[in-house]
Amino acid sequence: MDLPPFANEPIFPGVDDPKMREAFPRAIAQVRKQLGRTYPLYIDGRDVTTPNTLDSVNPADPDEIVGKVCQAGVKEAEAALDAAERALETWRDVDPSQRAMYLVKAAELTRRRMFEYAAWQVLEEGKQWAQAYNDVAEGIDFLEYYAREMVRLGAAQDMGSYAGESNFCFYQPKGVAVVIAPWNFPFAIGCGMCAAAIVAGNPVVFKPSSQSSVVGHHLVEIFREVGLPAGVFNYVPGPGSQIGDLLVDSPKVAVIAFTGSMSVGLRIVERAGRTPENQPSVKHVICEMGGKNAIVIDEEFDEEAAIRDVLYSAFGYQGQKCSACSRLIVVDKVYDRFVPKLVEAAKKLKIGPAEDPSNYMGPVIDAKAQRTILQYVELAGKEGTVLYRSAVPDKGYYVPMTLVEGITPQKRLGQEEVFGPVLSIMRAKDFDEALAWANSTRFALTGAVFSRNEEHLRTAVRQFRVGNLYLNRASVGALVKVQPFGGFKMSGAGTKAGGPDYLLHFMDPRCVTQP
Ligand code: SER
Repeated sequence: MDLPPFANEPIFPGVDDPKMREAFPRAIAQVRKQLGRTYPLYIDGRDVTTPNTLDSVNPADPDEIVGKVCQAGVKEAEAALDAAERALETWRDVDPSQRAMYLVKAAELTRRRMFEYAAWQVLEEGKQWAQAYNDVAEGIDFLEYYAREMVRLGAAQDMGSYAGESNFCFYQPKGVAVVIAPWNFPFAIGCGMCAAAIVAGNPVVFKPSSQSSVVGHHLVEIFREVGLPAGVFNYVPGPGSQIGDLLVDSPKVAVIAFTGSMSVGLRIVERAGRTPENQPSVKHVICEMGGKNAIVIDEEFDEEAAIRDVLYSAFGYQGQKCSACSRLIVVDKVYDRFVPKLVEAAKKLKIGPAEDPSNYMGPVIDAKAQRTILQYVELAGKEGTVLYRSAVPDKGYYVPMTLVEGITPQKRLGQEEVFGPVLSIMRAKDFDEALAWANSTRFALTGAVFSRNEEHLRTAVRQFRVGNLYLNRASVGALVKVQPFGGFKMSGAGTKAGGPDYLLHFMDPRCVTQP
């Protein structure tokens, strides 16, 4: 099978693009007519309704119910695991190229629904047009890229011969996969983890986040339409407290792919390490967790680019990205010149519903996130000097855009992930101190350096210990294939989504030798 070479889906061209101006409002209006529908579970190729549903609401207006999502309990989670286990018997032996074609078809379907799927994210997750559009584009990239990766890895590899014996290796799937996805990239990340597991031959039990289960249901539409065999993809939204541990603990599960907070990730790693007598394999966990990402500003930097990209990295999608900039470390020599300008630029940014493209920042995801972030906003006043705290709309889950200075690595705001629009600003005496501070947290996800000093840039490449380092650009927005995404330390284990190693997490190699 010949697939054309992989190419990234074009990203959002800008809010002034005539096509976006026309298509987004139309798609949002069409989606709005469909709000409030009930979404069943999807188990073994069938819709399954349950009596208890969860309302998924618009964070900009919590009275607006986006959808009512049936909730899986123990019975449904077990049924999904059983369905996946049955599907494994045949799915694992389907030719890798054939499995890849399901993903290519899924990408094509998604492409046709680009605006519709993005519009759902504007209303369910409070994502700005650009953020929503790029999320769907990233999902398409994962489908197209992993399809090609499976074609590449699916071919048996000749290992050469020795003493008259010939040898070859190939990959087999690990088994049933549980995918636990976050709400902040509600289509892309869930889609990527599911696509990787499925194309590698592992049937999936997919638990989307409660805050993004309507968007999570798009995967049901897509995988049903491309005709994936029953049981290969199962959708079971439900309370983590009831079914999260059950899915992780099940002896039927061989691999768990998780993206979310450090605390939940570590819990999964711990529980997956307990191996009951009846469990046939050692569970493998892929976990992408948090960050406390820093942008370093050196003496010689491009001021305009730095202001634009720091604001985008810190406040794009309200700072609710694991890749978001949470610490700005500025060297003393340029601090007093740069920071006031940054604050002035921040003051110009508008805050309001994401469906209005003139708003730079929207609501955070829910009331719980709002409460947590507000505690950090309060802490900012205690640990440092607040340079700017924006006003916010009355209705909706808004928190103020907050810039605070006087933060050092010893303070909580120098260490803890906020997952919201609170930027801790730190004054370092020089570049070496800035880099040491950048590395001073438990996390190692993204980082950026703004500098024209070649030696400093080389030093950063060697010593800024993060999974994704960006030189003279924003710390967010990794693109599939060209910027494999993920970190290490407490930012994750077994990562690099969208990279050439990723599918290997879902497979075991076999070697065959014959005279
Ligand atoms: N991949 C996203 C980014 O790079 C984060 O998950 O911003």
